[in-house]
Amino acid sequence: MIRNTAASYGRVARFFHWSIALLVLLDLGLGVAGKYTPRSGDTVGFLQLLYSTHKTIGVTVLALAVLRVIWAVTQPRPLPLHPERRLETFAAETAHWVLYAAIFLLPLSGWVIHSAEVGFAPIWWPFAQDLPFIPKSERLAELAANVHWIAGIVLAATVAAHIGGALKHALIDRDSTLARMWNGRAAGDAKAAHAGKAASTLAAMGVWAIAIGGALTVFAPAHEGEIAARQPAQSTAGWVVQEGRLAISVTQMGAEVTGGFANWDARIEYDPDSGAGTVRAVIDTTSLKLGSVTEQAKGPEFFDVATHDKAVFEGDIRRVGGSNHSAAGALTLVGQTVPVTLDFDLDLADDRATVSGSTALDRRDFGMGAGYPDESTVGFSVTALIELVATKAE
Ligand code: HEM
Ligand code: HEM
Repeated sequence: MIRNTAASYGRVARFFHWSIALLVLLDLGLGVAGKYTPRSGDTVGFLQLLYSTHKTIGVTVLALAVLRVIWAVTQPRPLPLHPERRLETFAAETAHWVLYAAIFLLPLSGWVIHSAEVGFAPIWWPFAQDLPFIPKSERLAELAANVHWIAGIVLAATVAAHIGGALKHALIDRDSTLARMWNGRAAGDAKAAHAGKAASTLAAMGVWAIAIGGALTVFAPAHEGEIAARQPAQSTAGWVVQEGRLAISVTQMGAEVTGGFANWDARIEYDPDSGAGTVRAVIDTTSLKLGSVTEQAKGPEFFDVATHDKAVFEGDIRRVGGSNHSAAGALTLVGQTVPVTLDFDLDLADDRATVSGSTALDRRDFGMGAGYPDESTVGFSVTALIELVATKAE
């Protein structure tokens, strides 16, 4: 039978239950496996495959969940087999509502993480990548990841209780609860009634309110600061950097991923009359943020921050003409020193210098990403972008 009756689940309801159950359990497993896989150059390919699979399965669950609910509201819900066991019936039905909500909340929170963060592990065809109205924001991605994680714990605990209940009915009560869902057997008394629907839905809503509220407040991750945060003004020689941004962008799986260094310091000597000077910038590579690939980028294959926690650029500044300047020198990164020229604009007004420039580096010059000899996963070119405002030291 296609449709449900008061005593049985029809084929469609059973198809939705078991297909979603299978995919949800698989995705829980993949999510946990991903969480506990160490981040390194060696695992990046594996993690990419794992998360693309995880996300695509998750979005499939969401699509099935929408169809399931549309179908379920047109169907009677089979009545409980033991309505006289009021507490048990209430607990079972609360668990069903918690699970119904979970098959929306998990995929949606996951999709928000994916939309808010940059790069890494695409969702596969035929689904879209980004949800509308979700901005690229590291903070939002962090919060959504926290909701996703805590929702995953609630889901896992509820599924465990749900499976436990199904097994108890099959093995201890020896009734037809499991058979009803497994092969559509009809069972139960048409005069039975569901547990108070309002009470069980309210209880399930309470569970989710506590979980999501907690994830967004008490259990929210501490905020580490935005990418390329304002850096402390420490330089004294010549010009003092008041604020600045040191960003990098790379192409990863065909999409541009932009991030930056939160901590760096630049000592600048510059004579506005001659347009000549020197610069020495020291960059704390451990402060790199590069969207969802931060850990891989900091790993041994790329910036290797465990061994090289600093990068240094030293160069001579020269005015090319008007506001156009260049700083020609050397960049030492992961132990390799390579000649680099940074072209930048420098605008002076009232002893305030506004600098904005960029340069293109080739990761191969620094021996980065040797395991990625072509550009299919990570592009060769890395664009470094610098913007700063400095004032003349007293
Ligand atoms: C091996 C794992 C599972 C078993 C053995 C199982 C078993 C069952 C059984 C026997 C029922 C019918 C309960 C009744 O008639 O009162 C049921 C209903 C339900 N199950 Fe599962 N289940 C499993 C996994 C899951 C998972 C992973 C989810 C969701 C994430 C889920 C969601 C639901 C929901 C929402 C209902 C209520 C359906 C309705 O009445 O519309 N189940 N399950
Ligand atoms: C049935 C649906 C889903 C379940 C049960 C599920 C479960 C999980 C679990 C248990 C984790 C590990 C916890 C963690 O790393 O914080 C995880 C991680 C993750 N999931 Fe899902 N997920 C689902 C759907 C999705 C979807 C649809 C997406 C994206 C489109 C997604 C994206 C992610 C991402 C990006 C992570 C890593 C989070 C991080 O690094 O903090 N998930 N998921």
